[in-house]
Amino acid sequence: MEPADLVREIADALTQIDPAAPMPLAGRRALVTSGPTHEPIDPVRYIANRSSGRQGHAIAAALARLGAETTLISGPTNLPDPPGVSMRFVTTARDMMAACEAALPVDVAVFASAVADWRSADRVDAKIKKTAGTVPTIDLVENPDILATISQMTDRRPTLVVGFAAETEAVNENAEAKRRRKRCDWIVANSVAGSSAFGADDNTVTLIGDGLHDAWPEMTKEKVADRLAARIADHLGSTP
Ligand code: CTP
Repeated sequence: MEPADLVREIADALTQIDPAAPMPLAGRRALVTSGPTHEPIDPVRYIANRSSGRQGHAIAAALARLGAETTLISGPTNLPDPPGVSMRFVTTARDMMAACEAALPVDVAVFASAVADWRSADRVDAKIKKTAGTVPTIDLVENPDILATISQMTDRRPTLVVGFAAETEAVNENAEAKRRRKRCDWIVANSVAGSSAFGADDNTVTLIGDGLHDAWPEMTKEKVADRLAARIADHLGSTP
């Protein structure tokens, strides 16, 4: 077997789904984005970022464990598919946008992906050749903002939309400004200064919403996922 398949089989075998465990999200639908996007420059080069996808994958797994019918839309990662989750694999921001729209309607959407903000404006189907003494210029155009688009939908907006804000300074202030600008309900603020967050095991986050400012201690990304899923279940449980 391929190593990734082997890891998935072992994870599936070890995941003890306790039939007596409470499933507060049974009957609810969830959408999660995870990982980076890759934006081609030509057939061999691309623009990307350091996202590992660990946080987003852990959130999808946590929502599924609580009973949600969960779709995980993943950019390129090296992670095994979380058990009990429907996977959609994408490469670019535009593919991710289309896959998100196709997954609607959902009760909750969590946008944990580090979507590339820009893509090349030029044709990408021919390799850029090196010419001695000159360097190429890459013109960029803006990618769709998936979180903002889905937060501002009038017809199929999920009941609860959760964004992430990866910041290096003024973390909570920038995150709150981002929440208002994009119009999501909650934003998970995390610092990506230095070596933390991107690719790390642990995360230190603050959950911010209207009248909500909850600073969580440093914990593993899996624990952040479990806690966020529990908060989502509480919120949706009180929403008819
Ligand atoms: N996001 C998105 N689509 C994009 C860019 C970001 O859905 N094209 C989402 C991310 O999944 C995350 C949130 O928006 O939930 C914030 O992402 P971040 O990269 O921190 O914000 P940006 O809008 O890129 O702002 P900046 O890079 O200026 O901080």
